[in-house]
Amino acid sequence: MQEFSLPLTRRPRRNRKSKAVREMLSETKLSVSDFVYPVFIMDGNNKEEAIPSMPGITRKTIDILLSELEEVVKLGILAIAPFPAIAEELKDSKATLSYAEDGLVQRAIRQIKEKFPQLLVMTDVALDPFNAEGHDGIVSATGEILNDETVEVLCKMAVSHGKAGADFVCPSDMMDGRIGAIREALDGAGLENTSIMAYSAKYASAFYGPFRDALGSAPKAGDKKTYQMDPANVREAMLEVSLDIEEGADAVMVKPALPYLDVLSKVADTFDIPVSAYQVSGEYAMIVAAAQNGWLDRKAVVLESLLSIKRAGARFIWTYFAKEAAMYLLENSKN
Ligand code: PBG
Repeated sequence: MQEFSLPLTRRPRRNRKSKAVREMLSETKLSVSDFVYPVFIMDGNNKEEAIPSMPGITRKTIDILLSELEEVVKLGILAIAPFPAIAEELKDSKATLSYAEDGLVQRAIRQIKEKFPQLLVMTDVALDPFNAEGHDGIVSATGEILNDETVEVLCKMAVSHGKAGADFVCPSDMMDGRIGAIREALDGAGLENTSIMAYSAKYASAFYGPFRDALGSAPKAGDKKTYQMDPANVREAMLEVSLDIEEGADAVMVKPALPYLDVLSKVADTFDIPVSAYQVSGEYAMIVAAAQNGWLDRKAVVLESLLSIKRAGARFIWTYFAKEAAMYLLENSKN
């Protein structure tokens, strides 16, 4: 063994010597107020369906969601994000149902806000669940995704959510100019207080697979690479975020989360606006599958992944683990 010629004055391990010292010096703490809970909804009554690629997560009718929300609110979760599964025969090439006043999402918002006025409702603004082609935008006869025509529909959709009582509308479609157009449309409809949370740096990711199973919303042809971002790029993320801020976004998002922590960190360091991150369906599926095989410790990995996302700069985190993580935090606070 090598002998030290100097006394060891710097011993970083002193700062890790006990649970209390570690707790006092910890730079990042997870809290239940960090979580947004995404939920999958469908038409009908008293129905709930499992999603095979997302064990533990279901698609459910609004009445069942409302009873689940009692628990969500009790746990202290501040926000939920409903995503609709729409029957194939109700979809069309113009995503007409996306802005119907009595559409599934619009009805869900009204009923949720009526029962739980304090619970924040953050709605997805993109055409894919309603569009016969399964794309976030309107598809032309030649297979192109039409930007400006799509933005017009997104504006109507956002206004219909705002009117129903959504606290945040959250465009996830990645069309150009949609944040400014939606801001103008909301203001024009007297909805100055409806906030916009922009999915600004949304990558064309294979980690969205289970979500598309949940909603039956996978593209019928082609992929989303002409609108969602190239996973190779970070400079482009900075441009997308800066444009969304200029256009009036109140908060922005980086998505997915764990594979894109470098992007999240750079966005959070650069811009003075709340930044969120979405721990997406594929990230959920990976952790659950490994835990089911006994290969990972579920509780520890859920909390570590969320803590890492927060440490990288997320002010809030969209996660299917929201309820579970809230329960873990409660458990830990009792120990
Ligand atoms: C729809 C949308 C998607 C997700 C959120 N909003 C899917 C997609 O863009 O294909 C993905 C969420 C997840 O994977 O958990 N525009």
